[in-house]
Amino acid sequence: MAGRFHIRTFGCQMNQHDAEKMANLLCHAGYREAPDAAAADVVLIHTCSVREKAEHKLYSELGALLEAKAAGRVVGVAGCVAQQEGDRLLRRFPRLDFVFGPQNIVHLPAMVAAARERERQLRVDYDDDTQARFELPERHPEYTSPTPGRAFVTVMEGCDLFCAYCVVPRTRGREVSRASGQIVEEVRALAGSGVVEVTLLGQTVNAYGRPRPGRVEGEIPFAELIRRVAEVPGIERVRFTSPHPIFVDEALVRSYAEVPELCPHLHLPVQSGSDRVLADMNRRHTRAEYLELVGRLRAVRPDLTLTTDLIVAFPTESAGDFEQTLELVREAGFADSFSFKYSERPGTPAQRRGMAPLDPGLAQERLERLQGLQREQTLAYARARIGERTLVLIEGASPRHPGQLRGRCPHNRVVNLRSARPLAAGELCPVTIESATPHSLLAVPVADRTAAGRGAPLPLV
Ligand code: SAH
Ligand code: SF4
Ligand code: F3S
Repeated sequence: MAGRFHIRTFGCQMNQHDAEKMANLLCHAGYREAPDAAAADVVLIHTCSVREKAEHKLYSELGALLEAKAAGRVVGVAGCVAQQEGDRLLRRFPRLDFVFGPQNIVHLPAMVAAARERERQLRVDYDDDTQARFELPERHPEYTSPTPGRAFVTVMEGCDLFCAYCVVPRTRGREVSRASGQIVEEVRALAGSGVVEVTLLGQTVNAYGRPRPGRVEGEIPFAELIRRVAEVPGIERVRFTSPHPIFVDEALVRSYAEVPELCPHLHLPVQSGSDRVLADMNRRHTRAEYLELVGRLRAVRPDLTLTTDLIVAFPTESAGDFEQTLELVREAGFADSFSFKYSERPGTPAQRRGMAPLDPGLAQERLERLQGLQREQTLAYARARIGERTLVLIEGASPRHPGQLRGRCPHNRVVNLRSARPLAAGELCPVTIESATPHSLLAVPVADRTAAGRGAPLPLV
């Protein structure tokens, strides 16, 4: 009784990749992807609970979806809100068929089968067998990758750090790594199917391989894992996300000089520029330590593009603390950043300590000031790259600029280009950057790949 499925995903790259895993599992179970929810027999809402806004979005979408639920259609909620809310979701939405957390993805085909027999299901247990979640089937021939030429590869899951504001350790559970042999095997299979760029994924991805209880057989230092992945024939670009500053060791810093496939972009969340706020957030490093790390990275890789995550109006943030965040943004020279207003989340250390959120107006004002500064800095960064030769991995047609293609350079910036020659998604195209906006670079293709290879340092022309 197979049919068609549709998955609507919110949240981070781990969620994006989990959605791919779900789609592949459903393909193996005989299902095929539908273009939208209306055409699907199985609809999944794949949720994020990192900020309150994301959670609210779920409730409105789910309500509308269940209202319009056709006979025979089954609807499930997956992801971090599913893990956090569990049974409460089933009670609140009587027409909802099943709810499952991020560690229960392997059970999806069984849950769908049960739901189609009118059995409501809840699967939010944390796995006892921590490795079972990594044992997923290879890509089914009918599974089509949403990102030709590029792929995510899970290397670890969960988080043991418990930053005061963050819900992730509760929704994703404890830190669990995957054996390196399995990771490299997956990368080989991907390269065999035309993938040239892999992004290694984990909530604290560079905690991979650190000495700790529960280290799995076959774990190796993170820098060594990067090297082995980069050595797989066909792999031209390696990225990873999200690293935590305290796990950036000397070997990882050196990788930026030694591994040409390692892209010259690092997204290194800092959250705040004030030592007092960093301590209250339980980030485990100081502003000076972060800047020192940035200095060491830039010493080995002068063209490194650095981006970050920032939170404004954490409950203990004073006007002075906020000024220090602005100062840090300048000093670290972030090319871009994701910035958020503090959002109180259930069960987090900050919420349990009764830390009251700041005035929403003040939070908004700080966010706007920070984003204004970042916009200027991002534009200056982009303008400095005009004239540069680089290599773009084509992603497809530009959604905003008709007639243009969109891709990314090794520094992970969006590059739009006009090409007389048709280029397929997944193809690498040498270009020269001609102009810049805060959001993208505009480039023209050039004839050959010399001086624009892989992630190698690029001379500014
Ligand atoms: N695992 C990653 C990202 C976690 S969530 C890491 O450790 O870096 C992504 C980003 O959301 C965080 O870096 C943080 O900036 C933001 N974030 C997390 N919880 C938040 C909250 N309660 N309020 C506002 N922003 C939050
Ligand atoms: Fe959340 Fe901190 Fe863990 Fe990142 S390191 S997932 S911000 S608790
Ligand atoms: Fe959101 Fe869960 Fe990712 S809370 S940011 S989907 S880990």
